[in-house]
Amino acid sequence: MEYITLKNSDLNVSRVCMGGCPMGGYGWGDVSEEDFVEAIHSAIDNGVNFFDTADVYGLGQSEKTLGKGLIGRRDKAVIQTKFGVRIENGKTFYDNSPEYIDTAINNSLSRLGTDYIDIYLVHYRNTETPIEDVINKLEELKKIGKIRYYGLSNINVEMAKEILPYKGKFICCQDEYSLACRKNEENLKCVRDELCMTPMTWGSLGQGILSGKYTKDNVNFGADDRRSRDIYVNFYGEKLEKNLKIVEALKEIANNHNKTIPSCAIRFILDYLTDSVVIVGVKRIAQLMSNLEAIGWNLTNDEIDYLDRISK
Ligand SMILES: NC(=O)c1ccc[n+]([C@@H]2O[C@H](COP(=O)([O-])OP(=O)(O)OC[C@H]3O[C@@H](n4cnc5c(N)ncnc54)[C@H](OP(=O)(O)O)[C@@H]3O)[C@@H](O)[C@H]2O)c1
Repeated sequence: MEYITLKNSDLNVSRVCMGGCPMGGYGWGDVSEEDFVEAIHSAIDNGVNFFDTADVYGLGQSEKTLGKGLIGRRDKAVIQTKFGVRIENGKTFYDNSPEYIDTAINNSLSRLGTDYIDIYLVHYRNTETPIEDVINKLEELKKIGKIRYYGLSNINVEMAKEILPYKGKFICCQDEYSLACRKNEENLKCVRDELCMTPMTWGSLGQGILSGKYTKDNVNFGADDRRSRDIYVNFYGEKLEKNLKIVEALKEIANNHNKTIPSCAIRFILDYLTDSVVIVGVKRIAQLMSNLEAIGWNLTNDEIDYLDRISK
């Protein structure tokens, strides 16, 4: 495994983090809790010590499944969870208020079956709550031992400006990024270079399109899969055509190195976005093992340039 010490912290985590969104069980088609628990155990056995989830994934189910997978293994895991996205009466809204954080942290701790969270992220920022109030509450949670560190997710340039005076407080920030989605590259570089936080990528396989298993003819998802909606742009129209060209390039590179296609998509991020962590959602051990082939080697500069060009 390759590890990185997260900025402003003493947390040493695997550069491939297991993503917990599919563990929520909602919107990812046919999934099984047993498979997730086995995959969590196998991840730990293979050197992965970093797990990402959120209170809103499957309305708490993802945290419960992760908690179950970590029974007896809590000391081997760095848990990152998030607060701030609420779904009530079918409506989704962002809430960063200190009162809500108090409720959210206790619910997350109870679902995860732990008495501390390693990294607590603001999932989406609601600027109605001043950033000082959010920081004060998170500092209070640190002091009483409910969290060890805190970070951010999905910030834009405006939000980056409000964070600047608090450099050093937030340790990391995650955003969507992959060969299929380059639009947040500057944000993530700003997170790393100007805000001094560790950048983390979500949707690192473009919700699965970069795994190489999808073709124009088999992207027909069932109604229980969020990707059946065309807002999941990676699987539709011109974007799909472009993604399949990227997959062709990845296939060539995978053959050169005798690696799997998804592992090459992950390796691109590890090599190109230096000092980052790549979060990847997996449903079972086979996917995990295929992705972990990303570890322990590098793409050549020519391969990086080729993937860079074809995906831009
Ligand atoms: N901060 C945020 O707002 C935010 C938002 C979204 C996600 N996240 C985090 O980032 C994580 C990663 O994003 P994501 O899960 O949305 O997307 P992703 O990692 O790009 O894609 C995950 C999906 O790809 C497929 N897959 C993964 N490995 C594979 C392999 N080796 N072979 C074939 N298929 C494979 C699986 O679905 P199929 O088998 O069904 O294709 C899996 O569920 C999430 O789990 C979550 O922890 C954060």
